[in-house]
Parts: sequence; C-alpha cells; structure tokens
Amino acid sequence: MTTFLEQLDKDRIPASVAIIMDGNGRWAKKQGKNRIFGHQNGVDSVDQVMEGAAAIGIKYLTLYAFSTENWNRPADEVNALMDLFVSAINSYLEKMLANNIRMVVIGDIDRLNEKTRANMQEAIDKTAGCTGMTLVLAISYSSRWEIIRAVKNIAAEVKDGKLQLDDINDDCFSNHLATKGIPDPDLLIRTSGELRISNFLMWQLSYSELYFTDVCWPEFKKENLYEAIYDFQNRERRFGKTSEQLTK
Ligand code: IPE
Ligand code: IPE
Ligand code: MG
Repeated sequence: MTTFLEQLDKDRIPASVAIIMDGNGRWAKKQGKNRIFGHQNGVDSVDQVMEGAAAIGIKYLTLYAFSTENWNRPADEVNALMDLFVSAINSYLEKMLANNIRMVVIGDIDRLNEKTRANMQEAIDKTAGCTGMTLVLAISYSSRWEIIRAVKNIAAEVKDGKLQLDDINDDCFSNHLATKGIPDPDLLIRTSGELRISNFLMWQLSYSELYFTDVCWPEFKKENLYEAIYDFQNRERRFGKTSEQLTK
C-alpha cells in the first residue's frame, strides 16, 4: 500500500500549517471515559504531528491548544488542561531539542497560572536557539483578543506620533499581531468534523486552504497530517487571479 507520505511532492511542502486540535471530549465520551482522558490522549498526537511535520520540512506548525473561550469550561477541566500543558511540554522538550524545534507561545498568557507560565517560558528559552521548525502553541488565544490588542497598540503609536496613519497597511497590521514574523498558514486543518474557525487566526487565515476531517484529535497521527498535505497539494491557490494567469 502506498502511503500519503510517499505520494507527497517534497518540493511543495506548505511552509506554514495550523491545526485546530478538536474532538478530545467526544472521542473520550464515545468510549465511556471522561473528557480529561481525551485530552491526555491528545498529547501523543501532538508529539507525532510535531515530529511528522518537522520531518517533511514544514517550517511553522501552529497548534490551537486553548482558546480564551475555553476559560469558561468547568474549573476541573481547565485545571486538568493546565497541568497537562506542563507535563506535555516537559515530555516534548527533549524531542524538540533533538529535532531542532523552537517553541513559541501566542495568547493572553497573563491569564495562566504562575506554574504553567514559568514552565512554558523555560521551554521557550531552552529551544530559543533551535533553527529548524517553529512550533507555535496558541494558548489562551483568540483572534479577537489579538486584533483588539493590535488596534490599541497601533492607536497608541499614532497618538504618540511614532506611526503615521498612512503607514497602517497589511504589513504594519500583521506586525502588531501575536504572530509577528510567523508566515500566514498555507493550510488550516480542523479535526473532529466541526466546520468553523472558533476565533482562530482570523486575519492570518485570509488565503489559507481549509481542510476538515472527521477524525478526532486523539486519533490524528502522522499519516493523517500527510493525507491533509496531499489534499492541499492537489488544490490550486489563485489568490484572486484566474487559473490562466497562474500558468503563465
Ligand atoms: C479540543 O477538544 C481541546 C480543547 C479545546 C482544549 P475538545 O475538548 O473541544 O473536545 P470536544 O470538541 O468537546 O469533543
Ligand atoms: C477550539 O475548539 C479551540 C481549541 C481547539 C483549542 P472548541 O472545542 O473550544 O471550539 P467550539 O467551542 O466547538 O467552537
Ligand atoms: Mg471542541
């Protein structure tokens, strides 16, 4: 059987891939387990997908791990997730270093507890010199939070005379987002069959290819990632132009 990995065009690997890792709770519930069991099983998928993405030369992998809206979940689930972030990041650290993966975090991290924040900072610092793939963890992140923050910062710079109104353009706005320096996703994957964006990277996804799969996150492994990329490679990205213009 030919695998999706074997069928990939190695010269056209998307540079930037983002994933909404969804369906942990439903996956667990289906087998009579609690939601936290689902989150625990999602940790291995992150491990595999991170390794699989780095192996084929993806430069930026952005994972939506916790939204600002997820703070509204029951406290025991939120606390379990925070603990899981700490243990998961610790367990990934060796692999990140071995695979030259740099970790960064985007989101309103002031809302995290001290232990979780310190643990993340440690992983960020230890992997800061890695020059291979960048793993972007979106934690306590939402697009509206990010956009409001950018607008406030831009307004303050204009008020202080550091920025002129005419300087506000696509690049300027992108540079005020938490994703500054991270290329917009070429491909967005959402697992578990939900067909929505859920406040994720709304500015950055303007021209991303969208891929939805019914597979729940705890069952999404390397080959599922490669299947999504295979699908991506069979699309034509026109960016508003005509098909004929692209072949010229
Ligand atoms: C994704 O799985 C993980 C987080 C949002 C933290 P869910 O917890 O949303 O699982 P479902 O969607 O309820 O099945
Ligand atoms: C989006 O999933 C957030 C993450 C995957 C971290 P949710 O499960 O929170 O999204 P909704 O509520 O179903 O839209
Ligand atoms: Mg969900």
